Amino acid sequence: MKKLFLIGKSLKHSISPFIHNRILSELGIDAVYSNVELSDFVKLKEFVEMVRKDKDVVGFNITIPYKEDILEFCDEVSEDVRIIKAANTVKKKNGKLLAYNTDWIGFKRSLEDIGVDVKDKKILVLGSGGAAKACIYGLYRMGVKEVFVTNRTYEKTESIKSLFEDILKIIPVEWLKKYDFKYDIIINTTSVGMFPNIENSPFDFENYVAGIPVFVYDIIYNPLKTTFLKEAEIRGIKTGNGLKMLVYQAVEAEKIWFGGIDITSNLIAEILNECERKVAKVE
Ligand SMILES: NC(=O)c1ccc[n+]([C@@H]2O[C@H](COP(=O)([O-])OP(=O)(O)OC[C@H]3O[C@@H](n4cnc5c(N)ncnc54)[C@H](OP(=O)(O)O)[C@@H]3O)[C@@H](O)[C@H]2O)c1
Repeated sequence: MKKLFLIGKSLKHSISPFIHNRILSELGIDAVYSNVELSDFVKLKEFVEMVRKDKDVVGFNITIPYKEDILEFCDEVSEDVRIIKAANTVKKKNGKLLAYNTDWIGFKRSLEDIGVDVKDKKILVLGSGGAAKACIYGLYRMGVKEVFVTNRTYEKTESIKSLFEDILKIIPVEWLKKYDFKYDIIINTTSVGMFPNIENSPFDFENYVAGIPVFVYDIIYNPLKTTFLKEAEIRGIKTGNGLKMLVYQAVEAEKIWFGGIDITSNLIAEILNECERKVAKVE
């Protein structure tokens, strides 16, 4: 039996094994996907050595906090990874480790699915971590010419700015309360509001002085409805959560690992429904 893994630091609440094993069994692929928690960089190095030796390993996914660290151990990176400087998927091919990023595709496909037109919209991205980079790249690939970014730690926005020099404008957090900049779309890519700290919100609608946006997206999927999304809905704003992004990035990873497979829209819809029920149970 072939092996696939998700590596990260804290994976207790991850639903990735459910999504991948559901796809694998539906397509009749003799492989199993499981979580491997790695406490530090040394463990990451040991994991990669194990992967190189074990002929049954097809590849693995990477989540917080190793999406950037993993690049040090990979032999080749895709063009997307070269730009984003973070990978969430690795494939083993002819003994080499190839790094990919499917987060941005998951993000792009989820927006298309929800039916949000991003072109010529004023977009604010909250956060400057790994997920922010993937989302900004997704927006860039969707033809967006200008993205505003704000982050608790201003210095972190400097490094993200250097990756997307042409389209990014950095906004200090305090400006949201002072200046009358109206955003059409606000996207949360921070971990604020994620389980178990579900009372927190990354955005203060009360003190945001400009007009309300038309769409608010939170890439968090646990809970399905974060405080940020609840506060947006109270104001009549259309919202979306991160579950679709999660499922679509997993679908893209499967395609990379097994090439030529057909994951139908029916199967994706079924998995989305099942994931919703699973997450709702945990909430
Ligand atoms: N739906 C999906 O498929 C998907 C995919 C990837 C990630 N995600 C989610 O996206 C979130 C971020 O992931 P990541 O990989 O980007 O993590 P990361 O690289 O660690 O970045 C975390 C971001 O959150 C900000 N942040 C954390 N705590 C904060 C606080 N108390 N107040 C204000 N800002 C805070 C950080 O700001 P500082 O720079 O100031 O620390 C940083 O911008 C996670 O919830 C993750 O589960 C979802």
